[in-house]
Amino acid sequence: MEQQKRYGHFDDQHREYVITDPQTPWPWINYLGNEDFFSLISNTAGGYSFYKDAKFRRITRYRYNNVPMDNGGRYFYIKDGDTVWNPGWKPCKTPLDFYECRHGMSYTRITGRKNGVEASVLFFVPLKKWCEVQKLTLTNNSSETKHLKLFSFEEWCLWNAATDMENFQRNFSTGEVEIEGSTIYHKTEYRERRNHYAFYHVNTAIQGFDTDRETFVGLYNEFADPQAVMEGKPRNSHAHGWSPIASHYIEVTLAPGESKDFVFLLGYIENEQDKKFESLQVINKDKAHALIAELDTTEKVDKAFAELCEYWDALLNIYKVRTGNDKLDRMVNIWNQYQCMVTFNFSRSASFFESGVGRGMGFRDSNQDLVGFVHQIPPRARQRIIDIASTQFPDGGCYHQYQPLTKRGNNDIGGGFNDDPCWLIFGTVAYIKETGDFSILDEMVPFDNQPGSEVTLFEHLKISMDHVIKNLGPHMLPLIGRADWNDCLNLNCFSWDPNESFQTTENVSEGTKAESLMIAGLFVVTGKDYVALCKKIANGQWSMVNGQCDFADEAARMQKAVDEMIEAVKKHGWDGEWYLRAYDFYGRKIGSNECEEAKIFIESQGWCTMAEIGAEDGMVAKSLDSCKKYLECEHGMVLNNPAFTKYIYEYGEISSYPEGYKENAGIFCHNNPWVIIGECIAGRGNDAWSHYAKILPSYVEEKYQTLHKVEPYVNCQMVAGKDAFRPGEGKNSWLTGTAAWMWYTVSEFILGIKPDYDGIRIDPCLPETATDYTVSRKFRDAEYEITIHPNGAQKGVKSITLDGQPIQGTVIPYSAGKHVVEVTM
Ligand code: GLC
Ligand code: GLC
Repeated sequence: MEQQKRYGHFDDQHREYVITDPQTPWPWINYLGNEDFFSLISNTAGGYSFYKDAKFRRITRYRYNNVPMDNGGRYFYIKDGDTVWNPGWKPCKTPLDFYECRHGMSYTRITGRKNGVEASVLFFVPLKKWCEVQKLTLTNNSSETKHLKLFSFEEWCLWNAATDMENFQRNFSTGEVEIEGSTIYHKTEYRERRNHYAFYHVNTAIQGFDTDRETFVGLYNEFADPQAVMEGKPRNSHAHGWSPIASHYIEVTLAPGESKDFVFLLGYIENEQDKKFESLQVINKDKAHALIAELDTTEKVDKAFAELCEYWDALLNIYKVRTGNDKLDRMVNIWNQYQCMVTFNFSRSASFFESGVGRGMGFRDSNQDLVGFVHQIPPRARQRIIDIASTQFPDGGCYHQYQPLTKRGNNDIGGGFNDDPCWLIFGTVAYIKETGDFSILDEMVPFDNQPGSEVTLFEHLKISMDHVIKNLGPHMLPLIGRADWNDCLNLNCFSWDPNESFQTTENVSEGTKAESLMIAGLFVVTGKDYVALCKKIANGQWSMVNGQCDFADEAARMQKAVDEMIEAVKKHGWDGEWYLRAYDFYGRKIGSNECEEAKIFIESQGWCTMAEIGAEDGMVAKSLDSCKKYLECEHGMVLNNPAFTKYIYEYGEISSYPEGYKENAGIFCHNNPWVIIGECIAGRGNDAWSHYAKILPSYVEEKYQTLHKVEPYVNCQMVAGKDAFRPGEGKNSWLTGTAAWMWYTVSEFILGIKPDYDGIRIDPCLPETATDYTVSRKFRDAEYEITIHPNGAQKGVKSITLDGQPIQGTVIPYSAGKHVVEVTM
């Protein structure tokens, strides 16, 4: 293979990815913030911040799909004589003597050097605080005294990120700021219904400022050469309408060898309705002053940063593997878990591919994300389950998305995605297995957020299962509704109007025969989980307080439904070499050898093999072999094969994509793990591993930094498939269910450490080349040090000792305290 250019490398000791060339093939970003205040930051300091909701509380402005790419962000301009430069290279793009961006766990450090001056900026959001800290350290490494002119820069967004980009007839007249000392306050719309404002502060006296964009930049200049900066003269402008910004001007003198810190703070404040103002039009700044006081020195900032690092230490200490394979260890121990946290926080809302205005939290997405995250902060997973379930309807259907700020279902998209309800079981079961906390089943949870409509969470699970059973088609397979997991398989949509959205357009569902084998498999997998859960309750593991039900009967009732589904799949869902994908509106096969294109799809292979449907008849093995034969390529497994080459009215959006992209034969990384888990359940460790390694970022980073394009430290949603123009190109990085599924796959199915109701089940499935490895796993109040000796086996645990004593079976019974486990395969 040709030698590829490298843009960076992993630094495992610091848990960082180190970017050494600012001109990466695409902006390589990181996320700051863990709970309420969030920022996106690229390797050149681009990106933006928001409070809780990237649509309704956007704090700084960002322009997507810009030219050049990734313009706008938090910029520091350093004017040293006639040279103006930025530590992150952009936007001036003055060639630097040194550049480095270190993306770490919820922080980013960007360092630039020019003409003997070093500027290093540490960006992070302190725990539990509503602000982004930017600690800038300027150091004079030259032998002369330096007189530098420093300008900061942030551009305010007028809160609602959607209207900010469209309603200019109003926007240009509403912008308002206040300036007090070294703090610039952004208070647009605060005079009326908003009770929140933002501020940008620096912990030193300033010699000037700007708050009006055009005055600072100049109408015919750009971020690369703002007039005020180029002339070294702030304008002290006050924004009234137009486009408010915040820029501090600071004159800095540094003796040779001298270094100075500046703490910049981008903060967000909410005031009580009756305490909004200090006097007419003057905002109440008490809370801002208090927040500033918490972070106004280097010492305080360093302490807050140390706390953030400890927080991540603790999170990443819960599951740790030592295999001796650095590429695997760094993904399992650091980046995969980190990405899971990010997807859990952001769902699919805000990335460099998701604008933050389109989608909120997905019902199915968030349930899946939970599995990647539940071991880290179970209480947040618990809350998320309740929030999600609260958007369900009494018939078990649910809103497809909800807004994080309001927690309300999103009316723009509505419901009708028939896989959605099953995911609630998937998420809830994962939570209970991790925590042993059955009490969540007793939580009273409303429908559609309507007070007074509350029933137990268990009841929500029950109606979720029933929603599938009550919506079966002519082959007794689940009706697909608007779509199943594949949002683009729109079998009831029939759209010829390019102005309507495939996702939301009115469906023709009367008389539909469109059924999904993906939902069938999902129903069997989650149905088995549901049955097991009911049995646990029936056996006295938990007695419900709020809702009663004969749990043994319920288990039997659902077992019957699961068995019937299995029969239906065997009878109507098998194509000879693989599982069918679906039946269309008219009852015609999709994903069959009889079809002209898209003869085989990945989703039903994944779910039906995970469900082990027809394993005894060789169906599982055949299906997995067919995935290798028809779907696999150098970069992973494609979604369908052959790709659609034309638009099919009866199938919808899936056939709208050119060949090899997205849902039309792209490598939709999210669903590769389903097949990998299918392989693991079938005991085929070599195959599981080879599929897994193909989409493991650390393997990709080594092979194709330029081809892949997007961040080499996280998974992306989609890699262009074998039919694409440039197979192997990645897109839609960060916010993808791939993160949680990769985690679930490697932690539970490959390395084989599975939380279960009564303890930890040990069931690895490995390539035969695997050598001994150790997993440290905190589980409830216990801590296990588990060493596995594979002895060349792909699957099958022969014996286990717990603290030196042999145990029966493969479940290590839970008991608090520290334990040592040895596993021989
Ligand atoms: C996107 C959506 C997810 C969907 C998938 C397949 O990742 O977020 O909900 O399942 O695409 O269409
Ligand atoms: C598009 C995408 C799909 C995504 C959906 C969400 O259809 O292709 O991946 O789930 O939009 O709205």
